[in-house]
Amino acid sequence: MRLNGRVAIVTGAGRGIGQAIATLFAEEGAKVLVVDWNRESGAATAAAIQAAGYEARFCYADVSRAMEVEAMAGAAVGAWGRLDILVNNAAIQVVRKLVETTEEEWDRLQSVNLKGVFLGCKYAIPEMIRGGGGAIVNIASVLGLVGDPELAAYCAAKGGVITLTKAAALTYGPQGVRVNAICPGDVDTPMAQEYFDAAPDPAALLQEVASKYALRRISSPREVAEAALFLASDASSFMTGAALVVDGGLLSKCY
Ligand SMILES: NC(=O)c1ccc[n+]([C@@H]2O[C@H](COP(=O)([O-])OP(=O)(O)OC[C@H]3O[C@@H](n4cnc5c(N)ncnc54)[C@H](O)[C@@H]3O)[C@@H](O)[C@H]2O)c1
Repeated sequence: MRLNGRVAIVTGAGRGIGQAIATLFAEEGAKVLVVDWNRESGAATAAAIQAAGYEARFCYADVSRAMEVEAMAGAAVGAWGRLDILVNNAAIQVVRKLVETTEEEWDRLQSVNLKGVFLGCKYAIPEMIRGGGGAIVNIASVLGLVGDPELAAYCAAKGGVITLTKAAALTYGPQGVRVNAICPGDVDTPMAQEYFDAAPDPAALLQEVASKYALRRISSPREVAEAALFLASDASSFMTGAALVVDGGLLSKCY
């Protein structure tokens, strides 16, 4: 039980990576606030965790709205008296080259994927400091480290998440708050599925993408959740400001 008694918030936990993280954290003894702007899937994740005998509650929030994120942090403290862990996972994807990206698409993506991480940290950190420290895990991407010609706004936001992670780590390390990021490669989630489904031959695209990986496959959500568990737990007690690459060897290759 690597998170015994800890109180954790996981955003975007209605499906995909966030759902896997919320489930694994609960299995490891955490009390988990499952946050999503999709009430149905968020409530279903919390209910599944409870049905398995673990502790979770659902909280509605759109991570791009300050008041809702502040209320989210308050809900965790209100329910369980403290806040130890925050996973900023919620994000959206806009598949668009730079010139074709509209100003509205750019603003919408940055407000969820980058401002959402800022707001999560802003309202969680004071609660963590009050409790003597904490751990924040920001879900970035390999696309915060390298570019993708079709995902200009997404890459920019994920790069921002990595450097915001480092800035926050420097500011709040002295008060016992560790802040790290994870950079996954492709992960088998609804977000990735939607990307593949948009191709003329989704199966062929998946196969082509998988062939780029040293491990010749994409990741499962659980494999990213294991990395998040490591960064949220005391096993990573001397890590802060890191961008942990979980990419099956994708970025190890130049040609
Ligand atoms: N799937 C991949 O291949 C992949 C690769 C690298 C990084 N990531 C990152 O991992 C994280 C999770 O991705 P996923 O593939 O599980 O995505 P997903 O789309 O399958 O799930 C995202 C969840 O976040 C919720 N969400 C979206 N915007 C929200 C908002 N404003 N407020 C609250 N909830 C919101 C959605 O309702 C959904 O439940 C994201 O940060 C994504 O950028 C994914």
